[in-house]
Amino acid sequence: MSTIETIEIEDQSSPPFFSKIPVSIERGEGVYCWDEEGKRFLDFTSGWGVTCLGHASPVISEALLEQSRKIIQNPNSGLTYSPTRAKLLQLMWEILPSNLTRIFFSNSGAEANDAAIKLARKVTGRLDVISTHQSFHGRTISTASATGQAKHREKFNPLMPNYRFVPYNDLESLKHNLDPSVAAVILEPVQGEGGVQIPGDDYLEQVSAFCRNNGSLLIIDEVQTGFCRCGPMFAISRTCAQPDFLTMAKGIAGGFPFGAFALSEAVAARLEAGDHGGTYCGNPLGCAVSYAVIRYLLDHQIQANVQAMGKLALQHMDQWKKAFPHLIADVRGLGLLLAVEFQDEKTATQISDLCLAKGLFVRQTQGNMIRIFPALNIKQEELEEGLAIFRQAIENYRPFITGA
Ligand SMILES: Cc1ncc(COP(=O)(O)O)c(C=O)c1O
Repeated sequence: MSTIETIEIEDQSSPPFFSKIPVSIERGEGVYCWDEEGKRFLDFTSGWGVTCLGHASPVISEALLEQSRKIIQNPNSGLTYSPTRAKLLQLMWEILPSNLTRIFFSNSGAEANDAAIKLARKVTGRLDVISTHQSFHGRTISTASATGQAKHREKFNPLMPNYRFVPYNDLESLKHNLDPSVAAVILEPVQGEGGVQIPGDDYLEQVSAFCRNNGSLLIIDEVQTGFCRCGPMFAISRTCAQPDFLTMAKGIAGGFPFGAFALSEAVAARLEAGDHGGTYCGNPLGCAVSYAVIRYLLDHQIQANVQAMGKLALQHMDQWKKAFPHLIADVRGLGLLLAVEFQDEKTATQISDLCLAKGLFVRQTQGNMIRIFPALNIKQEELEEGLAIFRQAIENYRPFITGA
């Protein structure tokens, strides 16, 4: 098959959900991937924050092969026990905040959030959920309802009722909205899709205290920030906040579709058989891959690499901001979740296109921002190669090309 044929088939047979990029990727290795014509690309998106160990990681293929030779899906699925699942659960205990002792596996981040919202309503006997402006929690009807961005919501009205929104990083507004009808507050510890918004130091801890006082549960959405993306295993570990639920996906299995939510003993005590489930939940294949990925993150000091590479990237980005203040409004990041905020959307679009033409994938977010979130084991020379392409794209930017 050629790129032209692939694009034709996909375009003819897929619903028009994505504004596609005309590149057909055939294979990958580490931070690089190649299209059908053999052109090499450097991936600064890690498949949207997923391939934390890079593309085609042998850690993952070996785990897949080994487990698939044993068993892929249990008889009667979650009703039967699995040593592979038990091994992953034990490892999760080591890395999760200590109050989160019960873990359930899902297939995606949206599914984990959806379950947390549903279960919080049951446990508290309340209906309302508070979320934040510019948040992103998924694309199911309940998680789109919890997402604070008009573009993900307005086409699907009426959404689920009983959702309220407050500005992110605004304690007063949250306090004002917390009342006895609030079942849960759902928050990202750093807003990813919202443009890498990092809250103040005591924000999450204070929210956690407010929720406790109000009898509301705190759902921390670590789908994007978890598994060392921001440095520590979970971004919440930087704080003393005590979530009642913590939701996970993306980096949890390095590219294999998998997710999870963890909950406290007190919350789990108020749940019963039949409250939740799913055909593939805790599927041994996903558990084996997730175990191998998390083990690798722990055993290869990936956290230290994320911190060092994130610091280096931010130093470069600070220089860009100083050199091109007419183009760049802000740069920010935590670990390897980074963003360059341009003065306007047209600039971000053109820079992103110039990067792609030079073989670098980046991700435009919120119109005028570009997110950089490469594999967590990226080497310094690979990071610098991508940053050099990015800088060159800024230098080559010409407003008239976009018709601005
Ligand atoms: C913070 C956050 N929550 C939830 C989701 C949804 O996860 P999934 O696409 O696996 O359903 C995403 C996806 O980008 C996310 O960034």
